Amino acid sequence: MAKKLILIFIIRFISIISLFTKSIAQSPNYVGDDCHNSTEQSLTATYKSNLNKVLSLLSSDAIVSKGYNHTSIGENTIDAVYGLYDCRGDVTGSFCQFCVSTAASDVLQRCPNRASAVIWYNFCIFRYSNHNFFGNLTTSPSWQRPGSKNITNPQELDKAEDNMQSLISEATLETNKMYAMGEFNLSIEKRYGLVQCSRDLNEKQCNQCLEAMLDKVPKCCGTKIGWQVLAPSCLMKYDDFMFYQLTSATSAPLPNPGLYGR
Ligand SMILES: *[C@@H]1O[C@H](CO)[C@@H](O)[C@H](O)[C@H]1NC(C)=O
Ligand SMILES: *[C@@H]1O[C@H](CO)[C@@H](O)[C@H](O)[C@H]1NC(C)=O
Ligand SMILES: *[C@@H]1O[C@H](CO)[C@@H](O)[C@H](O)[C@H]1NC(C)=O
Ligand SMILES: *[C@@H]1O[C@H](CO)[C@@H](O)[C@H](O)[C@H]1NC(C)=O
Ligand SMILES: *[C@@H]1O[C@H](CO)[C@@H](O)[C@H](O)[C@H]1NC(C)=O
Repeated sequence: MAKKLILIFIIRFISIISLFTKSIAQSPNYVGDDCHNSTEQSLTATYKSNLNKVLSLLSSDAIVSKGYNHTSIGENTIDAVYGLYDCRGDVTGSFCQFCVSTAASDVLQRCPNRASAVIWYNFCIFRYSNHNFFGNLTTSPSWQRPGSKNITNPQELDKAEDNMQSLISEATLETNKMYAMGEFNLSIEKRYGLVQCSRDLNEKQCNQCLEAMLDKVPKCCGTKIGWQVLAPSCLMKYDDFMFYQLTSATSAPLPNPGLYGR
């Protein structure tokens, strides 16, 4: 009896450990930022204070929102600050908030004294600026991140483009959700895709943004199995493993926010 209990305990323990390592493997939270090209300047005390208010408002909003929102402080003054966050479509509540509050504190470290900045994580994007950018389509700067594995199947790129086109239609025309994710068959292997727009955009802008990203794929990433292309207004990602967790069909819980680290 005692042996059986110990065995159960060990099995539980092992499964907790593997859950833990799985969530770590999914972590590398930080993806990139765009502040290196905006010049460092001395911000006014009012601007800094407005910025801090925006950061804290958005961080606390993230737990109650549908996963995105924007706000501004000091509109129509020279010290106006406009801020926006957008969590990945399947990420809401404390998971979204964890990402946004990480972004809100990291952005001040990574982009000190900037009037505007954009920062990406696996689970969210965070932007702020001294100009009102809400609802504006912004496709540059864009980043292309090819993965390391080379393709072996010559059909890979064509298939990937078709698969992404179907996700783009799903995100815009079919659901108007501004994001979509899905798995696809490539002969016997599987591929996984994600498209996401910042939800201050409309369907047409979202479509335009994602098409612009997809256009970059052959040149940057056509010989690679996995890749990610992103701009302030949208991103797309493709790979041979399931890098997202939730779909409406499978309700596997997201890792505890505390586990996916920094
Ligand atoms: C967005 O934030 C505002 C406050 O700035 C709040 O009133 C509103 O409910 C939020 N919207 C969503 C969708 O969470
Ligand atoms: C956003 O778009 C409006 C209308 O096209 C334009 O006037 C404004 O300058 C744009 N804002 C930014 C920050 O690009
Ligand atoms: C940012 O600066 C780097 C290096 O100076 C340059 O390669 C890159 O194209 C710039 N990006 C933008 C969006 O200007
Ligand atoms: C992928 O292909 C490139 C260029 O042909 C080569 O340099 C690289 O070593 C290959 N990488 C792997 C992981 O096979
Ligand atoms: C992928 O292949 C599996 C098994 O071969 C099949 O059950 C599934 O329906 C296929 N999915 C799609 C999207 O074609």
